[in-house]
Amino acid sequence: MKGVILAGGSGTRLHPLTRITNKHLLPIYDRPMISYAIEALVLAGINEMMLVTGGTHAGEFLRLLGNGEEYGIDRLFYAYQERPGGIAEALGLAERFVADDPVLVMLADNIVEHSFRSTVEAFADQGKGARILLTEEDDPVHLRHLGVPELDGEGHVVAIHEKPQTPPSSYAVTGIYCYDPQVFEVIGHLEPSGRGELEITDVNNWYVGQGEMAFDVLQGFWGDAGESIEAYYAVNDYVRANGANKS
Ligand code: DAU
Repeated sequence: MKGVILAGGSGTRLHPLTRITNKHLLPIYDRPMISYAIEALVLAGINEMMLVTGGTHAGEFLRLLGNGEEYGIDRLFYAYQERPGGIAEALGLAERFVADDPVLVMLADNIVEHSFRSTVEAFADQGKGARILLTEEDDPVHLRHLGVPELDGEGHVVAIHEKPQTPPSSYAVTGIYCYDPQVFEVIGHLEPSGRGELEITDVNNWYVGQGEMAFDVLQGFWGDAGESIEAYYAVNDYVRANGANKS
């Protein structure tokens, strides 16, 4: 399984911090945010990956990560996203790297307490389609800033709603997704959303429509450090007190 880490975007919700650097280079406790996603993929057994980034600080990622050896990566590739055209657009840049393999995608502002290796293994057994990681979230105000799955009585995802006013469940869709290579065909047919982006939720809803979407519920803490300044500091506090990427 190959890995793709997405670290582009404009980071406007963390302005003015992100006027002077890329969001994913900001510190989370004792290291740059991007390190956590890299470590999470390595811990999940993925050692061939591509980092997609953009903007004016892309060179800093090379300086920090080099060829990835220090992190236990066999092969680390880079792609440059010309403008923040959406998560699905950023993933589309990895098409030739991923080729005919299954892929795990992680948003670089997501931090997890525990490894999601079991999801990678479950997706290998699943063989086709997609598999996402959900996290339990009771606060409807928080859910309004995230993707939220609608589940039927039997625990199947029937739709995913992006930033819904009325959240249809008490789960959030994390930024950790597994796809078969069909994903690039799906991205190729997407239309930009109202905010002019190619949305990962449209990709996920395509798989839901095909009846090929599975999910797991992540154990332990999950945080989106890019959601707001408050979320950024809440993630920092949690990681400082409890650590992250535990097996
Ligand atoms: O963190 C989980 C949430 O991430 C999910 O619950 C949502 O369903 C999903 O849409 C996404 O929502 P966000 O509002 O957090 O997405 P955001 O635009 O902040 O982008 C998240 C990451 O994706 C960002 O840290 C870097 C990457 N990205 C984003 C864009 C728009 C790119 O690499 N390129 C882009 O053009």
